[in-house]
Amino acid sequence: MNRPLGRMIAVASGKGGVGKTVVAAGLAQAFARRGERVLLFDGDLGMANVDVQLGLTPAADLGAVIAGRTPLDGAISPAMGGSIRASRGGFDVIAGRSGSGALAGVSAEQAGRLATALSAVSLSYDRVLMDLAAGAGPSLLRMAAAADDVLAVVTSEPTAMTDAYAFVKMLRMRDEGAAPMVAVNLAESRAHGERVHEGFAKTCRSFLDFDPAFAGPIRRDPAVPASVRRQQGLFEHAPDCKAAADITAMAAALAGATAVRAA
Ligand SMILES: Nc1ncnc2c1ncn2[C@@H]1O[C@H](COP(=O)(O)OP(=O)(O)OP(=O)(O)O)[C@@H](O)[C@H]1O
Ligand SMILES: [Mg+2]
Repeated sequence: MNRPLGRMIAVASGKGGVGKTVVAAGLAQAFARRGERVLLFDGDLGMANVDVQLGLTPAADLGAVIAGRTPLDGAISPAMGGSIRASRGGFDVIAGRSGSGALAGVSAEQAGRLATALSAVSLSYDRVLMDLAAGAGPSLLRMAAAADDVLAVVTSEPTAMTDAYAFVKMLRMRDEGAAPMVAVNLAESRAHGERVHEGFAKTCRSFLDFDPAFAGPIRRDPAVPASVRRQQGLFEHAPDCKAAADITAMAAALAGATAVRAA
């Protein structure tokens, strides 16, 4: 990675179930452990699950915001180790509404308003991670476009590759200047992750005339599903596991790109 990285990072994938929430929540924890003030935003408006994955019971959620009952900053809850200001490693969350499907029908216009409000709230943080839904529909693309950077999560599965490719294509059709980076999840090894990225990048170069940067690999690790089952953050459950090491390295690489901008 050799270009400046922005404050707000959207995590998308095209295909469902490839690890967007694991990556977004993991990076939120990793950036917080680096001492950054972090907000994790559950932008999976149809089937929110950041709160479930992290075992949170937020007082307010995006349902109330969309209904106009709460301003966006009224839906901020502390996660893991208390408020961001209370302890190193803690961060803030804006939760969706798990499983209700209440936010599934959010229009691109409503998504745009939410994105604008999030941009304003983001000014109080060093880093905002936006966990997006699967797919590449107009509302999702509108949310992704509000971010400074987009991280596309792929795996070696052909369907994950084709769906991530479709997402990248749609994003760049909407915004020619969009330059999503690629994170390879469920890699069998770091080298395997690099090969998967190279294969994906080759397709993008051939058909989109675009060369996506590699944000890094995350290895397949049984500690990940175990932490999800326990509804604990990965760094709480198994701070020394392989996947946590990879997410820590990814956050360091991304933060390093920020430092380049600051210089
Ligand atoms: N590196 C990993 N190693 C092992 N298992 C993993 C890894 N990453 C994700 N998983 C497993 O995959 C499951 C799906 O991950 P996650 O919920 O993050 O996907 P998602 O892309 O957010 O899905 P959705 O599209 O439904 O929002 C997790 O519950 C976890 O068990
Ligand atoms: Mg998810």
